[in-house]
Amino acid sequence: MNILVTGGAGFIGSHLVRRLVTRGGHSVVNVDALKYSGNLLNVKDLEHDSRYRFVHGDICDRQLIESLIRDHKIEGIINCAAETHVDRSILDPGVFASTDVVGTGILLEEARRAGVKRFLQVSTDEVYGSVEEGSSTEEDRLAPRSPYSASKAGGELLVLSYWTTYRFPVMVTRGSNTYGPNQYPEKFIPLFVTNAIEDQPLPLYGDGRQRRDWLAVQDHCAAIEHVLMYGEAGSVYNVGGGNERENLVVAEELLACLSKPKSLIRFVQDRPGHDRRYSVDCGKINRLGWKPEISFERGLRSTVEWYQQHQPWWQPIKSGAFKQYYEEQYRRRLKEGRTCAS
Ligand code: TYD
Repeated sequence: MNILVTGGAGFIGSHLVRRLVTRGGHSVVNVDALKYSGNLLNVKDLEHDSRYRFVHGDICDRQLIESLIRDHKIEGIINCAAETHVDRSILDPGVFASTDVVGTGILLEEARRAGVKRFLQVSTDEVYGSVEEGSSTEEDRLAPRSPYSASKAGGELLVLSYWTTYRFPVMVTRGSNTYGPNQYPEKFIPLFVTNAIEDQPLPLYGDGRQRRDWLAVQDHCAAIEHVLMYGEAGSVYNVGGGNERENLVVAEELLACLSKPKSLIRFVQDRPGHDRRYSVDCGKINRLGWKPEISFERGLRSTVEWYQQHQPWWQPIKSGAFKQYYEEQYRRRLKEGRTCAS
């Protein structure tokens, strides 16, 4: 299949592109705007593969998208391009609506006009909002609470409307918190692992008792490929790892992997509107034939090892433009934070 992956230089996108080319035998065009978290090092190993092609560009560029679909005879599109970080969406929400809603709309419309056969929107379990009890099924009401999750919900509603309105064959995956190698170190696990490696404090929001369901990136990408191939048009599929953990427990587990002391944990001012818990029911995608294979213990250990072995990947990121964001997000919090003992 000729597949266009957007955002393929990002975290999930780069793992997905590699999987589609090397395991699936597909021809893949990767279009990525290379904004702050897109990184060509993530796909460097594919550079000389004849089935792979990188194009620097934005999903908001209608002409570029139209010509890519035409010139490469694209049959399937997977939209991974997105602004993805909740904390940044609180600091600067505008760009989230542009990329996650408007950009998705442009990509979708060009795909429909060209008669693309399958369109998969990579979304998130955060569209359900905070789920204090039980697990969300695909039919549950969407109740996003951050500018990030609201933008992702807007994007996927637009995608689903193309099935209802035009019978354009779209699918949506709602993945849970994903972790693994190559994740930009603003997110919880890579931020805490890299800070711990450098003996820097780990800024845990609020009481640290919020719960997330952790999904290994390799499992997430297998699910996306599976839905692209076998998913029913017009359908939504939850994708969860089945590894629900409190943030504090994850922080302690990753410190143990690194043999670092718990005293590195700092309880800091909470994120505004912080969702307490996410949990998805994965019965539907299980029945389609996918289930996760990587236990959290194994996935976390190999992720920690990856960051230990790839300091040349993340150190330039953390000492570059990221520093300014980190200062804005954490300086005051860390000054006022407290350790476990205090
Ligand atoms: P994150 O990786 O930002 O994913 P999301 O907010 O999309 O779930 O955060 C995961 C959890 O970790 C979330 O409950 C917020 C918490 N967290 C911290 O406690 N400190 C931090 O510095 C970050 C980035 C996240």
